[in-house]
Amino acid sequence: MSLEIRPMRSDDREGVHRVSHQAFNVPKSQRGKHELPLEQVRVAEEDGRVVGTTRVYDFGHWFGGRSVQTAGIAMVAVSPEARGHKVAEALMTETLREQRAAGTPFSSLYPATVSLYRRVGYEYAAPRTEWEVNLRSLPKGGVLEPEVWTDDDLDEIIACRTAWASANNGQLDRPRWWWEDRITTPDWDDLDVYRLCVREGGEVTGYMIYTQGKPKRGDWGYEIGCRDFVWRTPEAARSLTTVAARHRSLAHHLQFYGAPVDPLAFLVNEQDVKLVERFNMMGRLVDLPAAIEARGYGPHVEASVEVTVTDSVLGENTGTWSISVAEGRAKVAPSNGTRASTDIATLSAIWTGILSPHDAVRTGRLEASAGDVAALEAIFGGRAPWVADWF
Ligand SMILES: CC(C)(COP(=O)(O)OP(=O)(O)OC[C@H]1O[C@@H](n2cnc3c(N)ncnc32)[C@H](O)[C@@H]1OP(=O)(O)O)[C@@H](O)C(=O)NCCC(=O)NCCS
Repeated sequence: MSLEIRPMRSDDREGVHRVSHQAFNVPKSQRGKHELPLEQVRVAEEDGRVVGTTRVYDFGHWFGGRSVQTAGIAMVAVSPEARGHKVAEALMTETLREQRAAGTPFSSLYPATVSLYRRVGYEYAAPRTEWEVNLRSLPKGGVLEPEVWTDDDLDEIIACRTAWASANNGQLDRPRWWWEDRITTPDWDDLDVYRLCVREGGEVTGYMIYTQGKPKRGDWGYEIGCRDFVWRTPEAARSLTTVAARHRSLAHHLQFYGAPVDPLAFLVNEQDVKLVERFNMMGRLVDLPAAIEARGYGPHVEASVEVTVTDSVLGENTGTWSISVAEGRAKVAPSNGTRASTDIATLSAIWTGILSPHDAVRTGRLEASAGDVAALEAIFGGRAPWVADWF
């Protein structure tokens, strides 16, 4: 048996569809709705037959106010008869090597199974947290007039979201095609997609994109399911929740993706912003020095630390690194010191801010003195990371 990992060719389409449709149990009615761009797909070929697939998106994640270029991994699939022989691991390893050679600093993915990705250096990076609020509990009395927006307003909507997303850690920096391909497109289940925004001084300060989905209980009514629920000011929040609440004769809840402790909870009178689901995205530093230098840091942080890191997949990351942060930027250089030590997966989780260095020590994933823990916490602490987009 010979296994080759390579870019997808046009004559692979049948094999790629066969493997991925079965793996993700794609209903026949939804097949063929999206043409796969050849340059994004990698295949595992065994004895002349496609047995595995993966897809690599090129987007960014915002960290510390800067967009870090990312290889977003999706569609990892192996046909049932080829499973259990490390085909998926080979696909991931080769894809990571390719991304490293291309200079990509970071990679992220949503894991169907965590252990596969931990083996190749990923760790939890940011939660995707879905909240719901009963429409009767939402703040009302907003004074901004909600407007229906169209594709003609997209530039203004993108400007609003970019200002909002760049102030959060973990959000996707969406390429333009992402909007057109995934955000403003029709719903896969053929639900209508509705768009509303509010303006202050002519500028969009909040917007929502939503569908009216099946009610959670019973047959009567519907739920407001937001693709995006973005607000930048208190008045934008109040005006969007006011218009959402006006659906309440038939609708039950507003559902949206929000922060691990979402600020909307601070505008609602009781503890009525309820968790629906939390699922962790994973991430990995592909080029350690490039990724640490690519993200931003708190403007008041001045700290430095030396860390010894092991990486069994991308050996270039293995070594001792000196990390110094000042004026919002980091400098990374090889070093001879051996103080704190960890592996690439743990450092990746510390880099995103999801794992505090203190907890990394408690879980046996980081060896560090109290001084090094404090330095790492000063550097990588900050707003808790979270992510709204699915891929
Ligand atoms: C998940 C999947 C891609 C694994 O493919 P595979 O080639 O069998 O995986 P590998 O042989 O490379 O496994 C490597 C490691 O991943 C983990 N792993 C693999 N399959 C797993 C599963 N079904 N459940 C939990 N862990 C699994 C194990 O740690 C395994 O190492 P081990 O065999 O030494 O225990 C395959 O089962 C599949 O296509 N499933 C359906 C689609 C899917 O879930 N894709 C993942 C989307 S994120």
